[in-house]
Amino acid sequence: MKKGFVLLLAMGLMITGYGSSFASTDTSAPEETVEETENSSDTLVIYFSRTGEQYVVGEIEKGNTAIVAEMIAEQTGAELFEVLPADDHYPMTYDALTDVAKQEQRDKARPACSGELPDLDSFSTIFIGAPVWWGDWPMIMYTVFENNDFSGKTLIPFSTHEGSGLSGFDKKLQSACPDAEVLKGLAVRGSDAQNEQEKVRGSVGSWLAEIGF
Ligand SMILES: Cc1cc2nc3c(=O)[nH]c(=O)nc-3n(C[C@H](O)[C@H](O)[C@H](O)COP(=O)(O)O)c2cc1C
Repeated sequence: MKKGFVLLLAMGLMITGYGSSFASTDTSAPEETVEETENSSDTLVIYFSRTGEQYVVGEIEKGNTAIVAEMIAEQTGAELFEVLPADDHYPMTYDALTDVAKQEQRDKARPACSGELPDLDSFSTIFIGAPVWWGDWPMIMYTVFENNDFSGKTLIPFSTHEGSGLSGFDKKLQSACPDAEVLKGLAVRGSDAQNEQEKVRGSVGSWLAEIGF
């Protein structure tokens, strides 16, 4: 692990429908079929996550944050949306990725995303999660915060990390989206998300109950 990274870790630690279908029973009338409809959720989970080589867990096929995002979606019935870079310039090896991420942070970069978020008018509550990168949200998440209108929404941050916890994700999210209400976030160790899934599922459930789900 690099020196700056250790320092940052230390700093982080210190601060730290039913479907309704029915048919007429009146046999004298022509049968009327009502199309099956599903109650769509008003809750969305937006997340960013990487596979490849990651700190502590090594080579992974599903990103740590993706695992937590899916648990939240399972337990709330929320829809899932993955933030993907327009041009996937992020290396699959850990050291190279830390260099790119550090440079983006220095540059206050706003990397472009691939595609657009679902129509936010349909959602009142939005979970937003990402790995902690150098004590902050990955810069691509600021692209999401700044290019979309989250005013009036309830936003709930979550992170995966390897020691820095939530790293101020909540405060930084509130600054980027001042007209949203930001609720208490959840921080999960990436290695637990990979290797201790029952424990993490329990923590996700307790946190969801605490914030009113
Ligand atoms: C570029 C980069 C920077 C990181 N910076 C931190 C950090 O500052 N604090 C920390 O606890 N973990 C840090 N980590 C570890 C990740 O937050 C952790 O492995 C996370 O679970 C990865 O999630 P993902 O698989 O969803 O991408 C960093 C990892 C990378 C790749």
